[in-house]
Amino acid sequence: MKKIDYVLITLGLAALVLAASCSQANRKADAGDSAVIENIMTRTSVRQFTSRPIAKDTLEMIVRAGMAAPSAMNKQPWAFVVVTEKEMLDSLCAVHPYSNLKTATAAIVVCGDLEKAGKDFVREYWIQDCSAATENILLAAHALGLGAVWCGVYPNPNVLPQVTRVLGLPSWVIPLNIITMGYPAGESQPKDKWKPENVHYQRW
Ligand SMILES: Cc1cc2nc3c(=O)[nH]c(=O)nc-3n(C[C@H](O)[C@H](O)[C@H](O)COP(=O)(O)O)c2cc1C
Repeated sequence: MKKIDYVLITLGLAALVLAASCSQANRKADAGDSAVIENIMTRTSVRQFTSRPIAKDTLEMIVRAGMAAPSAMNKQPWAFVVVTEKEMLDSLCAVHPYSNLKTATAAIVVCGDLEKAGKDFVREYWIQDCSAATENILLAAHALGLGAVWCGVYPNPNVLPQVTRVLGLPSWVIPLNIITMGYPAGESQPKDKWKPENVHYQRW
């Protein structure tokens, strides 16, 4: 074999190895992206649950996902009350008629902690910050095979004081919502909400 043939074969092999490693990296990126998109697109509110309890580690993982959310100036002005005791779930259910807590095995109450929030207008970002944490929690629950639903508390004057009282929250802690959760009883179909008319490009 001529020297030039060796060079060509070596170059060809190197190209093959490079192409294989690139395509593996691309496949990983595709799979990662599509798993996230798939999770977002298949999440839906679940309101009926089986009696299977949720492991403590699973609940902690879900709260970790909540705390991974972005927040204005990274203030992280949140606190999470994890409720698993039946008596407490029943007490919350009694004060929030739409909380779907009858069959839920757990609830995470996402609260704004105004002592951690910024000043002036930045303070009001606690609502967006806690909403971002809430969506992370809903998606994490879904990814872990759980069902969940966001039940609004703040600013509903008919439930806000009652939820505050039941949980014994201090005056600077405001419950944004109760996320009720559990293992889903039955299948729930995600809603198709895609409306191209709601999108504007460049300007209105
Ligand atoms: C701010 C807010 C408050 C909500 N409050 C309640 C509630 O009190 N009870 C309830 O069953 N669902 C509640 N939901 C869930 C919505 O009804 C649900 O997200 C909506 O119907 C869309 O359905 P999907 O979550 O399956 O996509 C609330 C959602 C949001 C964002």
